[in-house]
Formats: sequence, structure tokens, C-alpha cells
Amino acid sequence: MFPTTRLRRLRNRKVQPLVRETDLTRSDLIAPLFIDETIQHPAPIPSMPGQSRLPLRDLPETVKRLSAAGIRAVILFGIPKEKDPGAASAYADDGIMQQAVRLIRSDVPEMLVITDVCACEYTDHGHCGIIMECGDCPELDNDLSLDLMGRIAVSHARAGAEMVAPSCMLDGQVMAIRQALDREGFSSIPILSYSTKFASALYGPFREAADSGCCQGDRSTYQMDPANRNEAYRESLLDAEEGADILMVKPAGLYLDIIREITTLGLPVAAYQVSGEYAMIKAAAANGWIDEEKVVLESLISIKRAGATLIITYFAEDVARWLQ
Ligand code: PBG
Ligand code: ZN
Repeated sequence: MFPTTRLRRLRNRKVQPLVRETDLTRSDLIAPLFIDETIQHPAPIPSMPGQSRLPLRDLPETVKRLSAAGIRAVILFGIPKEKDPGAASAYADDGIMQQAVRLIRSDVPEMLVITDVCACEYTDHGHCGIIMECGDCPELDNDLSLDLMGRIAVSHARAGAEMVAPSCMLDGQVMAIRQALDREGFSSIPILSYSTKFASALYGPFREAADSGCCQGDRSTYQMDPANRNEAYRESLLDAEEGADILMVKPAGLYLDIIREITTLGLPVAAYQVSGEYAMIKAAAANGWIDEEKVVLESLISIKRAGATLIITYFAEDVARWLQ
């Protein structure tokens, strides 16, 4: 009798939960936070409804709320009051990130503190490292910027960061940071490398939020071409060889094939559901065109299904509540 194979048998409502292949739990999620040294009150980010830049003094309350919802890790981004060509405020002892890290470590010790290691929020030109002048086309000086990243990472670790996440897409970033950390006695701090990061148009809302856009040029000479799969693999492979503890693919939703590919390296893989992915879902939901909760959960389960172990997402707190 046709059909003999009936896959619908396992879709019986009572059987279905038993055969689910992928799950999403609150401990998969990392919440990004923006800490702004220039404000006294939370500043809502227009293109990211529900997200705000926070002054230091509001940070403990927010992190406690995340913790109460079941979120175990945050990744921090700082917006300093001073910017300069060399990103000095990125590694200052009393820089905004360093203060934020100390505050969370003392007030919410159960939260894992991860810091984004990059220069773009701290440079006046907005690029992710030191630039060399070449007429009217600013170019990132790779090797000079490596020293800077080591310095930033060490300053974060001294403040109490428990994991560092370099996002500058410099060649050699992981080894440079590993050596700098080890030299200063931080050999047990893991590196979560933004190992495969594309030059994506989906970072727009973040750059508005973090005030980190480049005034001249773009980031396409260091971030990756979205068309390249082999190169995406090599980028993460190299970071794994340099000693990365966790790899990352960013953005997430449009790059599920890349996530899949990179899980074959055998390291945990984090996926970053970026600001533009958040903004698109929020905008459609605000119009009543999609069901926000269903779309968000579907986007995240898809990222898990592709192979990600961890997801950085601005929906973290909402999802934690939905999953309760
Ligand atoms: C900094 C950094 C960016 C993001 C994370 N770290 C911006 C960029 O590279 O241009 C983007 C995150 C998001 O869009 O949510 N290098
Ligand atoms: Zn950057």
C-alpha cells in the first residue's frame, strides 16, 4: 500500500517533542550591552527598539535583571567620551569598559563578563585599528594594530574580564592577544574570536548605537566578502590554529551554511545575530506583519540547527522569559 513510509507518524502531537533534534536553552544565549560614558540616563537606540545605551550607574540593575531571567553571559561594548587616532581610551585603566567590567564583577558576580576587543568605538576615524595615511584611502595597519589589540585585551583582563572577543578581523589577532594575555599572567582567559566576520550591511544599527561608523572608507578591506565560503573556513581555521577557544560567525541568519562548515573544526561555535537582523524582525513585528515571538524563536532554533553552540542576540532577555 502506498505510501508505506509515513513521516507524519512522528509528527503526532505527543510524539513530536520526543524526536525534536535541536533545542534552544537560556544558557545558549549571550546578551550584548552598550555602556556609554557620555550619558546620565539610558538612551534608547531608535533603530533597535527595546535596546538602550546605558550609563554606568544603570548597568548593575540591567545585569541583575538579565541574570534573574536566566542569562549567564554578557558581551560589553563601550562608548567613550574621548576618541583619538590611537584609541587610547580603549586600554585606559579607568576607561568605560574597564569600569563597566569592574562594576559587574563586584555587583553581579554570577554573570560571565565577555568584552569586545576592537578599536572602532575609540578611534576618531572610526576604523577598527591604527590607520596608515595613504592619500584619501585610509588603510588599517595590520601589525601596528595587533599590538593595540593585545594592550586592550590585557587591560580588560586586568579589570576582571573573564573572556575576550576580538572583532577587528586583523591577521594574527588571536595569537597576538594570546601572547599578550599569557605574558601578563592571564593564560586561563579564553578567547572568543570573531573569526569569520563578514563586511555586512546588517551592522548599520550597531554603528549608530555604538557611534562607531567610519567617517572615511568602509571595512571591506579587513572584514570578509559575503560571497566567499572557502575563505570563511580558512579565517576560522587560522584562528583555531592560533589558539582561539571559541570561534564565531557573524552575522548569523544569512550565513547558516558558514556556521555549518565551521563546526567541522571541532571547536564551539558562536553565532552573532546582529543589529540589522534584530531591526528587521522588530520592524516587521511592529507593523503587525509577523509574529515576533515565533519568528525570533524560529531564527534562533535555525542557528542552533546549523550547529552553533552559543548565540549572541539582542533578543536574549525576551527569549529567556519566553523559555521560562
Ligand atoms: C566592532 C563590532 C561591530 C559589531 C560587533 N563588534 C561593528 C562592525 O564591525 O562594524 C556589529 C554588531 C551588530 O551589528 O550587532 N568591530
Ligand atoms: Zn571594530
